[in-house]
Amino acid sequence: MPLHSLLDLQLTVPDPDGLVDFWGDLGLVVADGTTLGTADRPSQLRLAEGTYRHVSEMRLGCSDESDLVAIRASLEALGVASTLSDGVLRCADPLGDHDVVVEVAELPPLTTPPPRVFNRPGTQDRVNRRSTAAVREVAAPPRRVGHVVFGTTDVAAGAAFYRDGLGFKVSDTVADGIGVFLRCSTDHHNLLLMPAPVPCMNHYAVEMDDVDAIGLAGMRVVADRPDASIYGIGRHVLGSNQFWYLLDPAGGMFELFADMDQITDDEAWAAEQYRDDWDPFTIASWEPGGSKADFFLPADIEQLAAARQAAGR
Ligand SMILES: [Fe+2]
Repeated sequence: MPLHSLLDLQLTVPDPDGLVDFWGDLGLVVADGTTLGTADRPSQLRLAEGTYRHVSEMRLGCSDESDLVAIRASLEALGVASTLSDGVLRCADPLGDHDVVVEVAELPPLTTPPPRVFNRPGTQDRVNRRSTAAVREVAAPPRRVGHVVFGTTDVAAGAAFYRDGLGFKVSDTVADGIGVFLRCSTDHHNLLLMPAPVPCMNHYAVEMDDVDAIGLAGMRVVADRPDASIYGIGRHVLGSNQFWYLLDPAGGMFELFADMDQITDDEAWAAEQYRDDWDPFTIASWEPGGSKADFFLPADIEQLAAARQAAGR
């Protein structure tokens, strides 16, 4: 695969400062006022000001300049225009509100968190001391941005753009093609496309060390805004990730996730694991229940649609 990573996302919102403060409080590192990163990766979320909430740029990493030339040819075969200069390829998602930027980049490895010792039935690995998770009061900081989910008016055409044009791989497909999980790294998904009446961001996802870090960070959010919790905590089936979905102060849904499937052998996954018939409503192996309406579509989708139109999209 020419692509090796999702480098970062640019989010455009009416009040980027509010989002900077929010993520700074949750442990992202504020680099220059509008760029948020982690200890290992200095740029994960870039914030810009605009009239309506959307992802405005998705930046991907590849290994070699020749990858950019190959991707440009693939895009051209699909009829998608792109520019390539100074080692940066840029095109617009034909169905979305964002640019896709691909550049040659080395991905700094993630630091492994300190090991956790668990007691399980029949195995006592931690005796005569409390779990570090029990006495921790502030979540370990977010580790990286792992994926983004777009609502689109044409899932099949969107999947073709990312798969055939940019070189993403399909990890799983929801029944009847209504949702496509795609990867540009070893993550089960860096991108999910699902149906929506207008192009929109469904959510962006931030990786945490483990479920305890998800819980602590999520509790910090709902302590300030009790209605911020949308869905979770639970464990997805497709991707296996543990999750909690919440709203950021800009009204955008984000996911705190951990323990996602990693795919290093494309053929083995395709032969043994790939599914194209998943029931769209079997989202999780376990979850607390309740309405999933806001999970499938932003609650303010009509306002977003009107704002998009006013912005000339
Ligand atoms: Fe997600």
